[in-house]
Amino acid sequence: EPTSELAGLKIMVTAGPTREPLDPVRFISNHSSGKMGFAIADAAVKAGAQVTLVAGPVNLPTPQGCQRHNVLSADDMLKACETYAESTDIFIATAAVADYKASQVAENKIKKVGDELTLTFIKNPDILATIAARQNKPFCVGFAAESENVEAYARGKLVNKGLDMIAANDITAEGLGFNSDNNALHVIWNDGDKHLPASSKAELAKGLVSLIAQQYNKN
Ligand code: C5P
Repeated sequence: EPTSELAGLKIMVTAGPTREPLDPVRFISNHSSGKMGFAIADAAVKAGAQVTLVAGPVNLPTPQGCQRHNVLSADDMLKACETYAESTDIFIATAAVADYKASQVAENKIKKVGDELTLTFIKNPDILATIAARQNKPFCVGFAAESENVEAYARGKLVNKGLDMIAANDITAEGLGFNSDNNALHVIWNDGDKHLPASSKAELAKGLVSLIAQQYNKN
């Protein structure tokens, strides 16, 4: 059931985890499946948008009709996003970007010598906040996965990252969220909000895309 809510618009979506190398054979990452972001990319294509999907390492097929750019690290994801940002009308950041990366990636495999190993990490760039701070910024939508004070933390991120909209979800809710096929979202913007009740990520993606189209067209 294609619609034309986003006809003619260019949309960039980040999805999945990032992978931060420690040495030539090891990395740190997280369990993000990328399902929500891929569902949003699919829904945006079906709503008539031209979609670029910047994907971390995930095991998902590319939604039909979107352009996919695979990346591993947060630095690479940022580079890709900055390249596409120029011609992006709406940026939707669903990626679970690693907060930190190794301060130095070892050139050779780290050997198991002592009984303890200490590594130093440094903060990764905030991809969403960086794109939202651009002069010619796209309409920016973030996600906030929280385990407490969900709405308050989400509203904080809306303001602090300079976003137009944020989709909050309570990660403690039974059977929803991370890695699950279902989710529920509380979508918040400057002068309004809407609860999208628990359903499949495909259904939620459709609802979110409609809300984004509504708010984008108000601007
Ligand atoms: O601050 P927090 O990680 O909770 O923010 C989540 C939102 O910010 C998500 O939309 C996520 O994709 C985005 N983000 C990002 N780059 C980071 C961290 C988060 O784009 N380094």
